[in-house]
Amino acid sequence: MANDDYKTQAAERALTYVEPGMKLGLGSGSTMAKFIELLGAKVKSGLEVVCVPTSEATAALARASGIKLTTLDDCPDLDLTIDGADELTPDIMLIKGGGGALLREKIVASASQRLIVIADHSKLVPTLGAFPLPVEVVRFGVRATLDMIIELSAGAGCVGDIKLRLGADGQAFVTDNGNYILDCAFGAIDEPDSLDMMLKMIPGVVENGLFLGLAERAIIAGPDGIEELESPDYTEFDDLDDPSEV
Ligand code: A5P
Repeated sequence: MANDDYKTQAAERALTYVEPGMKLGLGSGSTMAKFIELLGAKVKSGLEVVCVPTSEATAALARASGIKLTTLDDCPDLDLTIDGADELTPDIMLIKGGGGALLREKIVASASQRLIVIADHSKLVPTLGAFPLPVEVVRFGVRATLDMIIELSAGAGCVGDIKLRLGADGQAFVTDNGNYILDCAFGAIDEPDSLDMMLKMIPGVVENGLFLGLAERAIIAGPDGIEELESPDYTEFDDLDDPSEV
């Protein structure tokens, strides 16, 4: 079976978490395109949900599938976000941003009660970093920002080639937010929390593609079937009898 079929299988399983009346965040990428198509079919047969897209591309796909869209300004508290990932570890730390949508994806995921990641088995890795980490930066002073990324990420044990992402036209890729992306080929990221903290200290950095402690669950489809992973950090608030346990 091809990875494309596994993406569909993961998307189908994610659909079982969607309930009528939910406010959903819709991630971006090719795995999410499968989910949006399936969700669109459910909407056509009567499911009522309202969705916040994480990119212009996702918004266009969702509209074409007849899915009702809203904005995070009109609907700031979401029940559930479904999104893909470029890499994920067994404890559901992620690298995202391969499609350049990481900023809106992180904002939408953070506004959601739950984030469920869908992926084919090729995305599961023991340690993050084989996929170059996307970092969204403002266009002003990009050279100085890149130099600061080199300096501060070394403090988190991360050294490697950093490239300005180019679009298909050979020009600098510009995100939906009007920013650039720097792809950082650090190799194994042994201390993702520390790298995340360092990157957040740099004024020209808008956001980075490390999603740490955000995802509750991952649905991974592969030759051995569908596996669901749950984050060890995740505590469902409603399930706790004693609030002092939080
Ligand atoms: C978009 O910016 C990304 O974060 C995507 O979620 C990620 O690249 C996964 O995309 P695919 O499903 O196409 O691999």
